[in-house]
Amino acid sequence: LYPDPDFDLNKFNECVAERRAVLDHQNKDIAEALDLLREYWSLCHQTVTDERRALAFARAAAAVKCLPFKVTNPRQLKGIKDLGDGHALRVATQIVESGHSQEVEEKRNDKKFLSFQIFCKVFGVGPSIAKKWYAMGLRTAEDVKKRFDQLDVSKDNMISYGMAFYDDLNRPLQLVEAENTYKHITALAQRILPSVVTSMIGGFRRGKSSGHDLDVLFSYPEREHNEHGLIAAVREELDKKGLVVWSRYSRADGPRGVEIDSSPLPAGSAKDHLLVIMIILKYPLDGHFDQLERRDFSTEKNLGLFQLADSARPWRAIRVDLVGSTTAQYPYAQIGWTGNKQYNRCLRQYAKDAFNYSLSSTGLYDKRQHRWLPAQTERDVFDHLKLSYREPWERNF
Ligand code: CTP
Ligand code: MN
Ligand code: MN
Ligand code: MN
Repeated sequence: LYPDPDFDLNKFNECVAERRAVLDHQNKDIAEALDLLREYWSLCHQTVTDERRALAFARAAAAVKCLPFKVTNPRQLKGIKDLGDGHALRVATQIVESGHSQEVEEKRNDKKFLSFQIFCKVFGVGPSIAKKWYAMGLRTAEDVKKRFDQLDVSKDNMISYGMAFYDDLNRPLQLVEAENTYKHITALAQRILPSVVTSMIGGFRRGKSSGHDLDVLFSYPEREHNEHGLIAAVREELDKKGLVVWSRYSRADGPRGVEIDSSPLPAGSAKDHLLVIMIILKYPLDGHFDQLERRDFSTEKNLGLFQLADSARPWRAIRVDLVGSTTAQYPYAQIGWTGNKQYNRCLRQYAKDAFNYSLSSTGLYDKRQHRWLPAQTERDVFDHLKLSYREPWERNF
């Protein structure tokens, strides 16, 4: 039945967290169809059932990406746990049999879905705002732009910037742009704290050649930077050079998510959360940061936000996430922020089901013994979970 004689369905079904998925997997058509349905239900959901549908399609798509062979016969799909025996299996079967699924094509061209996709591509906008905009009769990005001043989000500064730099922020960030920016930011950080450890995380670490943002993780000893010291200092340096268009501090993956706009964070332990600064940065169109740094940005200050976005300028806006972790959190933050999102979901579910552990980007907590499990490397984390190590590029679920 399977072209790969070593493929063992029982083993494949037994532990999702043991699977691997590379970007260049063998079942792109099926995965694309299932991912479209996932996106459809996660953007257009009305009920809890719809949200569950989105998660089920995400699991089904991930399973297909993990198959070590190209599916050529629908029987090869039977019995795969995450495809179930209903909706996802039916769609996957249609794709294998005819390369086409009517349902997927209808959803792909659904007018409402297309508007929701456009709206959710605005930085700061998610399904609930998209829903409001749609109900108000807005359909396109142009509609939003025209009526922006009347929208109740016009005072939300993230969405205003998201709207103004819509085109820039939706133009994929290329690997070379990400690398240049990463090097520039790392050099700044090293000047502030020579012992800092940084890594490029997110999609680029998983091997993608383009992405929607650059994710940079910083690690520093807690005693030296017990709060947001380092990444705030990096943000300050970038700002002094005139490179920051917009930024916001937030805490991620802690017990409570708190968002604080550009003001200092209240004191607290860095043990139970990660500090994140979301930034919109200027990227020099000629790739040379030094030349952009020397520029006088004073004329830009006189332009309105939308005017600035429309004007000819020697830079494009890019999204950067600076994530600060302490040395103890670092391997956990690496795993959590390398992703992808579905891989994280699956690891966290497995940690809970198999060991009653709680896994997050800040650590691994044993809820029976009431203790945090220390780790120095990502491999230590996989060891704690009794899983085979997976390279970042094998985590593309
Ligand atoms: N992440 C997170 N907490 C957040 C935001 C993101 O844990 N508040 C995780 C995501 O689950 C993901 C990783 O950080 O695994 C990177 O997120 P993101 O930049 O949104 O996605 P990428 O996988 O990098 O994809 P892209 O190329 O589109 O940026
Ligand atoms: Mn990213
Ligand atoms: Mn990101
Ligand atoms: Mn400091």
